[in-house]
Formats: sequence, structure tokens, C-alpha cells
Amino acid sequence: MASKSSSLRVLFVTTELAPFSKVGGLGDVAGSLPKALRQAGVDVRVVTPAWPGVLERAEAAGLKTTTARSKVYAAYDWRIHSANIIKADVDKVPTYFLKAEDYSGDMYPSQLNFWTASPFAVFCMQALELKDAIDWEPDIYHCHDWTSAFLPCALAWHRHYRQTGGKSIMTLHNVAYQGVFEPSPFLDASGLEPWSFNSSTMEYYGQVNLLKGGIVAATAVSTVSPTYANEIQTYESTRELSGILYQQRSKLRGIINGLDTKFWDPVGDKSIPANFSVKDLKGKAACKKELLKRAGFDTESDAPVIVCVSRLVEQKGFDMVFNAAKQIAETGAKLIVLGSGQDWIENGMLQAQSSYPQSIKLFKGYDEPLSHLLYAGGDIFLMPSVFEPCGLSQMISMRYGTVPVVREVGGLRDTVFDVDRPEGGNGFTFLTCDVDGMMWALRRAVERYYDKEAWKKIMLEGMREDFTWDKSAGLYKEMYEDLMQ
Ligand code: ADP
Ligand code: GLC
Repeated sequence: MASKSSSLRVLFVTTELAPFSKVGGLGDVAGSLPKALRQAGVDVRVVTPAWPGVLERAEAAGLKTTTARSKVYAAYDWRIHSANIIKADVDKVPTYFLKAEDYSGDMYPSQLNFWTASPFAVFCMQALELKDAIDWEPDIYHCHDWTSAFLPCALAWHRHYRQTGGKSIMTLHNVAYQGVFEPSPFLDASGLEPWSFNSSTMEYYGQVNLLKGGIVAATAVSTVSPTYANEIQTYESTRELSGILYQQRSKLRGIINGLDTKFWDPVGDKSIPANFSVKDLKGKAACKKELLKRAGFDTESDAPVIVCVSRLVEQKGFDMVFNAAKQIAETGAKLIVLGSGQDWIENGMLQAQSSYPQSIKLFKGYDEPLSHLLYAGGDIFLMPSVFEPCGLSQMISMRYGTVPVVREVGGLRDTVFDVDRPEGGNGFTFLTCDVDGMMWALRRAVERYYDKEAWKKIMLEGMREDFTWDKSAGLYKEMYEDLMQ
């Protein structure tokens, strides 16, 4: 039996962990919140799959790893799935990388079915089995998004794990991804009781919906901003799932994300050509110059540079961006985008680039160092999201003095405030989700840019915001403590 002690013990169960594996903001949160929680006195540890390249990146980062003598096992699909446990302390957070055949493919499958969903179910059961192998038993399993939603389901409905009485939290980073697939042969092969498949649990229009199951089964649910916590209870936001979220609202809270402010810091950032700070902004001009050079634009241009760093998926509103290409070019600003994702959006952006090569540049792909150059070298950060659970990019851009232009939705509404409000603000916002709405805010930003004094004031307002985890880590700790009552 694993030992227990009186301090609060939380196991983060996550399929992304920056800087070792990251697709979007979930990786950032899993990589930074545990550090803040540890500082707040919570004994938090992290378990994550060792996807291809993860251990190599850990080694390159100079982490000292040890392989545990015991392995961890899970029964699934009439087979025993085993994994090696590779432990490392990541900034003092004990982290367990699970290495197994199950995690040797792409991180996220393009098509979901029983077989492609299997690594996620196996991962959750191995996380539940970890306690004996490491002689440390969590009080709470803290799960993130559909990829670890099998864990609360297992604690509620698995023929073995439901006897263990564990508690779980389901944090919703993005309700648009739910882990939906055909029930056969999942119902026979997962170990979940067949009676757990009904409309008030994980059944969803005849399909399995892991996220829905996780929401119903978890002891508590949180999401990543107060506004998104309200939005997801509406049909407009989450369609059929909104009813479930409304039903479960008494156990739902919205806690805004923070940033790893040491990592995202223009003062110490080693991947930008010059550093800068609130007190001395000079280095930002050198970053802008280098960015213009990389994009193939005139490096002496004083036109404002609009930047975007984003997954190119429907959520992020890039159809508005490429449909507004002509109007953006006519403002005289340069637009530099870094991102990859759905073909139709990449193609729309490529088309915009070839129509306006003097004004628009797309860097296609995922490139961490280049993203820092965009945040540091840009003047305006454009984020016209259709929906946005929290959004980290607008906060990162503000840290680097790049003024955000965002739609008033989800976490963007909780972090960016329009400068033209009587009380002032840190960016430019718009509400209507169309080209006219976006251009109304973007034009105001481009015009304001030429008023150097006013612009500097907005930049400094953003740079001085507190984006640390301090406050939100306290709210998570409170949620853990409430669960232990
Ligand atoms: P989401 O999680 O929905 O993608 P967030 O704003 O919460 O949105 O977080 C996005 C994170 O991913 C940020 O750290 C951003 O810098 C990073 N990112 C997104 N696209 C790219 C890219 N193409 N290259 C490098 N980093 C990226
Ligand atoms: C999701 C959301 C994003 C949020 C991130 C981290 O990917 O799309 O808004 O910031 O998770 O919580």
C-alpha cells in the first residue's frame, strides 16, 4: 500500500507538458501551474506520457532522470498494457514520464475511434496505478480535457477503480474537443460498467463522449476563465453539452490562467535579439527590425507590425483575417502570422500572402523560438477568436509590450480591456464576430500607433499587468481544500 501524509497531495494527469510536449496552451498550463502550486504548499506531482521526442527534450534540457524499478500496468482491450516510469524533478516538481508502446505514435489522432482513443484510456488507468509504484498516493487526481477524462469515469464506473474512492477534478481547457467515438467495442473492452453508458452519463447521441463522462463523474469541475465558465452553460457556446454543464454548475468554477512569467519575460528571454523592460524599451526596436528582416519586409519601415501566433483552427477566427486581407493591407500595416493547422485556413492565409506580398507574411508551422520573436517584435497582437476559453497568447504579447486586439469573448474578455473605455485599458476589443467588427478595432489600433505617447502608455499598461499564477494558484488550492472537507 502507498503511504499517505497529512499534506494535500495532487497528481496532475496531463497529455501535454511544456516544454517537453505542447500543442497549445494546455501544455503551458501543465508546465507552469504545478510550480506555483508547490510554492503555495501543495504536494503536487505530474504524470504525462513520454510521446516520441519527450525524453530526448528532457535530456537536452539537462534533467536528471531515473527509471523506477517497478512498472505500471493497466488492463484494457483484454490485454495488459505496461509502461516504464521515468522520474525527473522539473523545477522541483516530481514528474513521471510513462514510456510505452502505447505512446509511440502521434500525440493526437486525426480520427478518433476505440483503437486511437486507447492510449488515453490506458494512460488514465496507469495514472491510477502509479501510487503503488512510487509509494505516494494522491488525495486528488487533477485531470485536463478529454484526453484525461477517462480517469474520473474510471473512478465512478470502472468495475475495479470505482471501489477505490478516489477524488478527481476535471479542468476544461477547451470544450470543443470532447473525445467522441463509436461505443463498440469500448463498452465491452474498457472495464467501465455497461450501465455507465446512458444519456445522463457518457452516452452522447449514441456515441461515447469521454469529456461528458468526465464532467459528470468528476468530484469538481473547473474551467480556465470566469467568462468561459458562464458561456459554456449556453447552447450558443457548447450546443448539446450546455445542458449537462448547466446541470453540473454547482461544482463548476472559472479560474483564470496565469503564465510562467520567468519563461515569458522580455528582460531575460534568450531567444530574442535584444532584451527590454518597462524601464527601457529600446531593445524592442531591434526585435522589430529582426522580425521585419525574417519576414522579408523593409527593415526601416515604421508601419505598425500586426502579429499572430496561433493554431490555425476555426476557433481562432482566421477566416476573418484572410477575408480582411485587402482592408488590412490598406491600413499600411504589416501582418506577420506564425501558425499551422487546418488546410483551408492555411490555404486562405497563403492566398492572402500571395495577393498582398508587401503586407502579409505567413510562417507556416510550429516554431517556439520564432514565436518569441513575433511576441517581442510586433506592435499589435491580433486574436479575433470565435471562442476562447482563456487564451495565453494575448497575455504573453502584453508582457512583451505588443498591444492586443481581441474579440470580447471567454478569457479574452477577462484579460483585455479597451483603451477607449472611460477608465482606460490595455488593448482594443470588439464584439461582433465578423470582418467589420474586427476591422473597427484593428483600425483604431493602427491609427493610435502613430500617437507615440498614447501608444507607449498602452504598451506599459499591458507590460505592468500581473500575469503570474499567484492569485489563481490560491484559488486552485482553495478548490482542493473544499474537496477534502
Ligand atoms: P490554444 O491553447 O487554444 O492554442 P493559447 O493562447 O492558450 O491558445 O495558447 C497557445 C500557446 O501555443 C501559446 O504559448 C502560443 O505561443 C503557442 N503557439 C501556438 N501556435 C504556435 C506556433 N505555430 N508556434 C509556436 N508556438 C505556438
Ligand atoms: C485551450 C484554450 C485556450 C486556453 C488553453 C489553456 O487550448 O483554447 O483558450 O488558454 O487551453 O487553458
